[in-house]
Amino acid sequence: MEIKKYDIPTELAAGFCHFLAGLVHAKKEVHIALSGGSTPKTVFNMLATDFQEGIDWQGVHLYWGDERCVPGDHAESNYKMATDHLISKIDIPKTNVHPIDGTNEPNVEAQRYAALLDQSLPKKNGIPCFDLLILGMGEDGHTVSIFPENSHLWHSHRFCEVARHPVSGQHRITFTGQVINNAATVTFLVTGAGKAVKVRQILQKKGDYRSYPAALVAPTSGRLFWFLDAEAASYLTF
Ligand code: 6PG
Repeated sequence: MEIKKYDIPTELAAGFCHFLAGLVHAKKEVHIALSGGSTPKTVFNMLATDFQEGIDWQGVHLYWGDERCVPGDHAESNYKMATDHLISKIDIPKTNVHPIDGTNEPNVEAQRYAALLDQSLPKKNGIPCFDLLILGMGEDGHTVSIFPENSHLWHSHRFCEVARHPVSGQHRITFTGQVINNAATVTFLVTGAGKAVKVRQILQKKGDYRSYPAALVAPTSGRLFWFLDAEAASYLTF
């Protein structure tokens, strides 16, 4: 596991773009799972502008590690966020973009998407193996849509599960732990002072860190990178 600290979010975004560009240049076909939320917007905007000429998107396949059960044009859709900030601005084949259908019945969609992963990705240990899995972390220590309140979903034998947001009750489709920890490379993009407590608890194994799903991310490949800005890293004592 490696921690990459940057002073400000835009410097983190530039560092991550270089990191991603290196992964894409290295392989003819690359399978990447995107995270939702707001943190990736700066990265997506930078990928779509400063780095577009440097990345050949023709061999890149995009998936989502989780999605809200809303239409793809809904303000809360992770697919909409990625489309607005990245996909609509790059030359990527439409057939390389694999959204979760937030309008499908959640259990049916979780099974459909799991089958898509099973059919589309190379396998490692019999489990779909992403080249890169981009994660965020909530202030409560959740990642993808596995919250402390439903952390049992992490251990599901399925590749995808239906989760519910603990406050809003919104249904979500989410990857489970076996897919996340089977990825060749996993990156966390975490910024802001609001995340600093959980970042320290998880990275320095303090308090009840084991109750936070983000603490369960430990890819068997060993290639786990935490991209942090100064605020998110501000409580770290190493
Ligand atoms: C989602 C995400 C979720 C997100 C964290 C951090 O659908 O919301 O996938 O896991 O990464 O909640 O979100 P922010 O980047 O908005 O802080």
